[in-house]
Amino acid sequence: MSCVLLLGTQWGDEGKAKIIDYISRNSDIVVRYQGGANAGHTVVVGDRKYIFHHIPSGILHRDKMCVIANGVVVDPVTLNDEIDLLERDGYDVMNHLLISDAAHVIFPYHKALDEAMEEFRDKKIGTTKRGIGPSYSDKSLRIGIRIGDMLHADYLRERIAFVLKLRNLQFEMIYKKPVFQIDAIIDTLLQFKERIGGMITNTQYYLHESLRGGKKILLEGAQGNALDIDHGTYPYVTSSNPTIGGALIGTGLNAFDVDKVIGITKAYVTRVGEGPFPTEERGGDGDRLREVGKEFGSTTGRPRRCGWFDVELLKHTIRINGLSEIALTKLDVLTGLKRIKIAVGYEMKGKKLEYFPSAMLQDVEPVYEELDGWDEEISSCKKYSELPANAIAYVDFIEKTLDTRVSIISVGPERESTFIRE
Ligand code: GDP
Ligand code: IMO
Ligand code: MG
Repeated sequence: MSCVLLLGTQWGDEGKAKIIDYISRNSDIVVRYQGGANAGHTVVVGDRKYIFHHIPSGILHRDKMCVIANGVVVDPVTLNDEIDLLERDGYDVMNHLLISDAAHVIFPYHKALDEAMEEFRDKKIGTTKRGIGPSYSDKSLRIGIRIGDMLHADYLRERIAFVLKLRNLQFEMIYKKPVFQIDAIIDTLLQFKERIGGMITNTQYYLHESLRGGKKILLEGAQGNALDIDHGTYPYVTSSNPTIGGALIGTGLNAFDVDKVIGITKAYVTRVGEGPFPTEERGGDGDRLREVGKEFGSTTGRPRRCGWFDVELLKHTIRINGLSEIALTKLDVLTGLKRIKIAVGYEMKGKKLEYFPSAMLQDVEPVYEELDGWDEEISSCKKYSELPANAIAYVDFIEKTLDTRVSIISVGPERESTFIRE
């Protein structure tokens, strides 16, 4: 397989980074294609825990190239910190990271706007306040600044001056917030250029040439299908496309380049921020899942809402992305539950729904089946047949209902707590 796409199938935080780290051993290049520092991707190696916001989770394998492709929105401050942290641990980031000249930059005014809009809204989205929505909207408005623009000083100043004229008016007139000065913004950007200038390139060309030269590419999605701006639970979504279409747009690869799509899927469901969540479990078992699964945001530290596995949500994801297989994570977190619920369908006003609706998800009633749980500790299991019978029954049930193979199972946060199904 020359090009494998890994993406989140639920509302993000499925354990994507852990699986990327695991399977990137067999790749040459790992690529982030959308999102920005709203992502928090955790990889645990021995007693070290890394949380990546921009840098692809393959960076911990020292022989890989990592790419931040054109679809990503880059926050210079956060990226700088990520590079610092890795360099302190002895990683040669300079020679293993490429950044697209067409990726857009997140500025302090994007973050301030994100925060101001959240305050202003009647119904909050619960964004990460990382400036994601405002920077993608500047991109669509064609007033965004791209990484490559920092190589052309006069052009850069002219473009930033125009954006500030517009955005500062908004801060003054609507939000009554302090305005931004052009010199401070340009100074920060030029310092950033000193650091990353050598990494900037046309990553679209690089990826095509690499594929043609026989290299193996792994595409790393951020967020998840249900947070997709087109296919997710709009307006409670992020501002990019984590789905397969976003992987193509966000890299410049074409549809025939992708050989396999692996859907990273948590054995239950979590969501951070606002928005409908049909299988949410408020109370007892939900609190238990949060505690045992340590379900607190990797980026914001917010408690994640927890609930039961949702078949209808997964079917929606499978239709959109054409999943070749599923990597099932955090199965160990279910250990100790007497009964495990799985939503096998939805009803609205007493009628069965045939598919995941584009709106009014808050009005659906999940239809549950219940399976017996297990008490045995499973984090040390090294193969499928070592799992307790009821854990196998749970995975088999998911696989049969979704008609998609569960090929990888994760039973703990560490690298070693992962196995490929025999
Ligand atoms: P991502 O955004 O999809 O990469 O996921 P996050 O890193 O935000 O959240 C997943 C969390 O679950 C992280 O703290 C991981 O270390 C942890 N994790 C991943 N896989 C497993 C697993 O199989 N079992 C347990 N207990 N924790 C896991
Ligand atoms: P990873 O890649 C979980 C959620 C936010 C909010 C909504 C919009 O770690 O899985 P945004 O800041 O993007 O405008 O927020 O999307 N969100 C995530 N939830 N995991 C993520 O990323 C997320 N990135 C954004 O909580 O509800
Ligand atoms: Mg995360």
